[in-house]
Amino acid sequence: MKNAERNTWCRSHQGLCLRQSESPDVMVNRDVEEVKNLLEKYHQSHLLAFWGELSPTQRDNLLDQIEQLDFEEVSRWVRFVLENTSPEIDSDDIAPVSSYSSEPADPGQRHKYAEAVRLGERLISAGKVAAFVVAGGQGTRLGFDGPKGNFPISPVKQKTFFQIFAETIAAAGQEYETTCPWYIMTSPLNHDETVEIFNSNDFYGLGAENVRIFQQGTLPNFDSDGKILLADKSTMSRSPDGHGGSLKALHQSGALADMKKRGIEFISYWQVDNPLVNLFDPLFIGLHAMDRAEMSSKAVIKTDCMEKVGNFCLRKEDLTVIEYSEFNEMEDNEAPPSPDGQRPKLAERRNPDYSLVFRLGSIAIHIISTSFVERLNADGFCLPLHKASKKIPHIDATGRLIESDKPNGVKLETFIFDALPLATKSIILDILRDQEFAPTKNATGVDSTETTKQMMVARAAEWLESAGVVVPRKPDGSVDCLLEIAPSFALKKADVKAKLRRIPQIKPGETLYLA
Ligand code: UD1
Repeated sequence: MKNAERNTWCRSHQGLCLRQSESPDVMVNRDVEEVKNLLEKYHQSHLLAFWGELSPTQRDNLLDQIEQLDFEEVSRWVRFVLENTSPEIDSDDIAPVSSYSSEPADPGQRHKYAEAVRLGERLISAGKVAAFVVAGGQGTRLGFDGPKGNFPISPVKQKTFFQIFAETIAAAGQEYETTCPWYIMTSPLNHDETVEIFNSNDFYGLGAENVRIFQQGTLPNFDSDGKILLADKSTMSRSPDGHGGSLKALHQSGALADMKKRGIEFISYWQVDNPLVNLFDPLFIGLHAMDRAEMSSKAVIKTDCMEKVGNFCLRKEDLTVIEYSEFNEMEDNEAPPSPDGQRPKLAERRNPDYSLVFRLGSIAIHIISTSFVERLNADGFCLPLHKASKKIPHIDATGRLIESDKPNGVKLETFIFDALPLATKSIILDILRDQEFAPTKNATGVDSTETTKQMMVARAAEWLESAGVVVPRKPDGSVDCLLEIAPSFALKKADVKAKLRRIPQIKPGETLYLA
């Protein structure tokens, strides 16, 4: 291993984890025999199966990749792949968690919210808040060829996600008379393309010096027997290490150091697929700062107990997010079993007023203190690993390319929300879904480009109506025109009234774009 600071995966109370450590199996020079021995010891000899066919450059390349591996890590990864190590969550350990709601609950809280907004505004104006989008995913479900951020999503002007975010950052900069730097995490799957998009769009007018694009790390892909897959005869198959990798990548890329230099104290984190995100929310930032939280989250009240979002809860008193895939399967041990012996699901548990007990869904929006990211990296922090069966193109033992339409490999990744239990303090603010959350996951159907555009139009309609504009609606209440409000026109509902010089008349079926 070349680097003294390497990442290794270790076991923790939560499962297999990321930390920094040394291992005895460190390759110091290019002795192929030594490599062979190591690979044999760790049951990965197949990585050199095509050695005899490789050119000197390819051999060098392959040795480089093997040298990057810490074999203690490899054996831990393999154990994780082979064993069913997803830590079993005992539903008895799970309890609901409280949140700040979008509207203050009482006069005391009203006072606190007002103070938080003032504090949040001061922090933004003082240049203490940076924007950070994670954009390293593939967006396969959207069926879009290219970085998801470049997908045209706005209903009238077909602006891409990246353009909407850039315009929002520029508008916030104007409103708060400051410069908000933007950090973008990509992965090897889309880094070059993303950089090219920003270059060819002249960084959307934000200035190249205020936009920093950096890559996350990768982890090897495995077959179900724990063998590292080969993408071709001289290249290991690897995948991005999940959005949890951002906490390390911020540090390793120098982005964190850049933030410190600029005096940034708070990172506004979001996912690339949500064009309604409120990037600089003074209330959220202010509450986070007032409560001295290290990592805070926004949530929505779930519409359905089985909604496909992460679930905020306390696990053994630690704030945790449990993905719907796992949470929705957990049985409620407190509920009596039905005559067929089946227990209801924990996700279905209700309060006496029939509201959901576990009602807070994660929308992957966080405020993260830079000091928290620094502390984690200094401590050699530990995030649990998750594994997913995926379709992974690779070569087989004969060198033939295998491209399956079924999952044929295992991908490992970490999740950002697994850092929540590591924070000394954390707050949750539940927000109004129709104002801030339009996840764009699929081409059609639920959480699709179609539903996102509808939500963008619906929010614009509501903002315009609040300013006295009559928006044509169909008998079912849905908006009967096409609307788009540029961030330069309004970042929030109250801006619309202030900006409108005259009340526009909108006819059914018409298009209105406000900039
Ligand atoms: C995610 C959350 C889910 C939440 C939902 C809200 C997970 C496991 N689940 O679901 O709890 O309710 O969003 O919309 O995260 N990314 C990277 N690098 C990677 C992987 C992903 O940067 O290695 C980025 C993607 O570009 C995207 C974001 O992370 O911006 C989310 O990834 P995605 O796979 O779409 O998460 P979901 O499963 O949709």
